[in-house]
Amino acid sequence: MRKIGVLTSGGDAPGMNAAIRAVVRKAIFHGLETYGIYQGFSGLIAGNIKKLEVGSVGDIIHRGGTILHSARCEQFKTKEGQLQGLEQLKNKGIEGLIVIGGDGSYMGARALSELEFPCIGIPGTIDNDIPGTQYTIGFDTALNTVLDAIDKIRDTATSHERTFIIEVMGRDAGDIALWSGLAGGAETILIPEIPGDLKDIARRLEKGMERGKKHSIIIVAEGVTTGTDFAAKLKEETGIETRVSVLGHIQRGGSPTAFDRVLASRLGAKAVELLMEGKGGRAVGIYKDEIVDEDLFSILEKAHDFNQNLYTLSKELSI
Ligand code: F6P
Repeated sequence: MRKIGVLTSGGDAPGMNAAIRAVVRKAIFHGLETYGIYQGFSGLIAGNIKKLEVGSVGDIIHRGGTILHSARCEQFKTKEGQLQGLEQLKNKGIEGLIVIGGDGSYMGARALSELEFPCIGIPGTIDNDIPGTQYTIGFDTALNTVLDAIDKIRDTATSHERTFIIEVMGRDAGDIALWSGLAGGAETILIPEIPGDLKDIARRLEKGMERGKKHSIIIVAEGVTTGTDFAAKLKEETGIETRVSVLGHIQRGGSPTAFDRVLASRLGAKAVELLMEGKGGRAVGIYKDEIVDEDLFSILEKAHDFNQNLYTLSKELSI
């Protein structure tokens, strides 16, 4: 393999730039040429491809977002779109592709692998919802952004003796809510993996108030409901007046944490190694601090591991 490509796709995540840098520098270190494909699979179809040098990825390790830009591409879900993308890669003489993104991006990588084009997936999403890895690039940074918000909102909650509802991202997964809720000492955490019972939540809040607790923080994962809807239901059930904060896209931005930068560097380098070994149709990940790789096809059949122990702990500590 002499020429490889790299793209980022789907929702951006802090640490994607560190992964791009690792791919480019590892490849160049081993004598390969690297091409950046801009705007994800849309850019691939359009042939928006440029050669990347060592300097192209200088000064980006600390930056959020992705220098390659990103997109969600409906056209690449069609056979026609996939064949157009493949044609563009072949025109440039690119022999292997590294795709950084979430499950939608993995589906694009799988489609190219089915067309016998070697592709490696790197998990990059704040949602931490990709099977085949314990952590995705961007999750740790998003978690710390949410935690910072919880800590600030807690100050106001304490001053005003109020209950706050904080809605966080995560799509169908509850990892951002669960980890930030545990780290931020939230009284209640609502996640899609565990159906919560409104009456039970209401009783817990009321019991806390009877004990003299004057304020509470409730974290709601967007995959359950909206913060506003939950606030209305809680008011109906208990009469408790709350304030709602929807954290939104601030969770996707910002300078990546050290954890995300190191993770991205390790995963990026591993992806290049796999292509150099002539492998394709794989996705890289981390388990117990070991960088691993797994069949891309089987990953897409699995569900992301949900950490039940962490949920149980959060319940025990939020009495
Ligand atoms: O997958 C990352 C994510 O931020 C999800 O948490 C969220 O549901 C979604 O993307 C939002 O997507 P968009 O930025 O396209 O509205």
